[in-house]
Amino acid sequence: MITPDLFSDDATPAQRMADLCAQIERHNQAYYTQDAPLISDAQYDALFRELLALEAQHPQLMRADSPTLRVGGAVLDGFEKITHALPMLSLGNAFEESDVRAFDASNADLLLKKNLKPQGALEYAVEVKFDGLAIGLRYEKGVLVSAATRGDGFVGENVTANVRTIRAIPLRLMGENLPEVLEVRGEVLMQRADFKRLNDAQLARAEKPFANPRNAAAGSLRQLDSRVTAQRVLSFFAYGVGEVVGDFSQNTFTQIAAQLKALGFPIFSPIQPVLGADGLLAFYTQIQNQRDALPFDIDGVVYKINDVALQQALGFVTRSPRWAIAHKFPAQEMSTTVLAIDVQVGRTGAITPVARLAPVEVGGVIVSNATLHNEDEMRRKDIWIGDTVVVRRAGDVIPEVVMSIIASRPPTARRFEMPTRCPECGSEIVREAGESAARCTGGMICPAQVKQSLIHFAQRRAINIDGLGDKLIEQMVDVGLIRTPDDLYRLTMNQLEQLERMAAKSARNVLDAINASKKTTLPKFIYALGIRHVGESTAKSLAQHFCNLDAIMQASIEELCAVEDVGPIVAASAHAFFIDPRHRKVIAALIECGLVWENIQIDRTAQALNGKVFVITGTLPTLSREQAKHMLENAGAKVSGSVSSKTDYLLAGEAAGSKLDKAQSLGIAILDEADLYQLLQTAQ
Ligand code: IVH
Repeated sequence: MITPDLFSDDATPAQRMADLCAQIERHNQAYYTQDAPLISDAQYDALFRELLALEAQHPQLMRADSPTLRVGGAVLDGFEKITHALPMLSLGNAFEESDVRAFDASNADLLLKKNLKPQGALEYAVEVKFDGLAIGLRYEKGVLVSAATRGDGFVGENVTANVRTIRAIPLRLMGENLPEVLEVRGEVLMQRADFKRLNDAQLARAEKPFANPRNAAAGSLRQLDSRVTAQRVLSFFAYGVGEVVGDFSQNTFTQIAAQLKALGFPIFSPIQPVLGADGLLAFYTQIQNQRDALPFDIDGVVYKINDVALQQALGFVTRSPRWAIAHKFPAQEMSTTVLAIDVQVGRTGAITPVARLAPVEVGGVIVSNATLHNEDEMRRKDIWIGDTVVVRRAGDVIPEVVMSIIASRPPTARRFEMPTRCPECGSEIVREAGESAARCTGGMICPAQVKQSLIHFAQRRAINIDGLGDKLIEQMVDVGLIRTPDDLYRLTMNQLEQLERMAAKSARNVLDAINASKKTTLPKFIYALGIRHVGESTAKSLAQHFCNLDAIMQASIEELCAVEDVGPIVAASAHAFFIDPRHRKVIAALIECGLVWENIQIDRTAQALNGKVFVITGTLPTLSREQAKHMLENAGAKVSGSVSSKTDYLLAGEAAGSKLDKAQSLGIAILDEADLYQLLQTAQ
């Protein structure tokens, strides 16, 4: 960190204002372009406030490059038009490997014909293709004077006031000998984290959320009131130059990128060029693998011939350059129609509305179903049967319906009403107050819940029955072979061979896998039971805390609450599960079928309070007696019911009676709850 320059008494206000503008811009660039702040936020704010104060006193001295313009202010009736000095072109697209090879081959061919083909493979500058909005920034003598959207490529909109609020865009360029005019082109976008924050805020204000970061960036940039833009966090990356008057000659695109960086622009892409179609394709794969980890959305990569002289020789076809191409990723968002909405019943009976879609390719796979999560979510997105909707699939994420395009809603579209009876078993569906999910009350009589519980039980992270797929489980439930997990362990070769498409060899494999699954671990067994709210990590905590299944099954709600990460809801759910005789019967049957695991052993002798005898009496301020008992036992102590000469400590709360008197008469150490914590802490 460095200390900001102090105000020197002999500087005129104009000098000081120029100095402050320069300092603040330098810090903006250190922060946004170099990612290396030089001063603290508080120091930055102090400089900013000083400049604001001087500008208020001397409005006539306000500078065009003042960073205070970034807070917005101008409210427009509409956007003026700006004619681009050089048209803002678009790029041709490549989708397949063959398109990329054809692009490289045709460049090489054309250059060969012109006798310009260099030795060996052609060199390309490679970049990501930002999924935002193109913008042209015009700098005169290093000062930002106007900013225009792409528009139709020839005429765009003047969004200067809004662009000034984007802190990643320099208001004044760094360095000496700046060209008379320099137009820098690049993309304005919103990073995913900023998009999420904006949408959370929109929802909190009961305003419509934006469908994706691109729409949010466009909506923010095209605000007539620049104060609104100033509140949205937009980013910018430069990827080229437009009009230049004066000296800005560079031989290669990589040099242009480096020069733009030196002037203060954020550059994202690697500066290192690649060779030939193979180099391009390797870059495509590399970026595709990184795509989901990037902080912003991209929709492909861009390849540009690196040598500027060769770019000029290749020239343009209609509205795009021959020397550059965009290699697009499979689209992550597509629109399609909702053919129907129906519901799925989950393991715990949760009813999930699912949209059945006209099949559409999204992100490289065909999508024909997408979850609508729950009734509230479906209403919030206002999704009807017959609607045209936007479907999104990012990375490995389950396809999701992002929004409905209300303008295209046909008159035949209709709302979906959630059923009141389970479509699988006819039981009543209820939605408890405060719950987002409606649930089927059928429990084990509901075949859907039975199937999902068995699928959960058999999965790799639970009991792990290798080769027992979802379809096979569903088939076995349908023909009545299995209903509870213990049924799996009584299956015979004969029964399996009767199933459709089940040869002797596969039946043997399934039985072997079932047999092999008998040896498990306590956490996996608890997780496999499918207790509501008990995921893998809670199952592990329960196992570690209680060490064996019996102790867990007998634990009271209070005792369960003493487990790390277990709150009252989880504790109540686990308690209700284990006292249910149907569940106890299944657990006993599983053990009888030969399921085994090693109980967790804790070496009590190594523990802090090993062998110490405690008695608890009275009401403790925060802990229940069960909780205190558990804490003590976990530290190796014994908890006894009556005070005797063998008692080491009495833990006494409010309204302690005869036990306290007796302990006092025997000279036994008496602790309160605070002492207990202290003892446990120091004893660790
Ligand atoms: S270069 C002659 N580089 O893609 C055209 N464009 O389809 C020069 N885009 O309108 C454009 N990332 O908005 C270029 N790294 C990148 C880009 C990029 C995104 C956008 C840009 C342009 C569109 C062309």
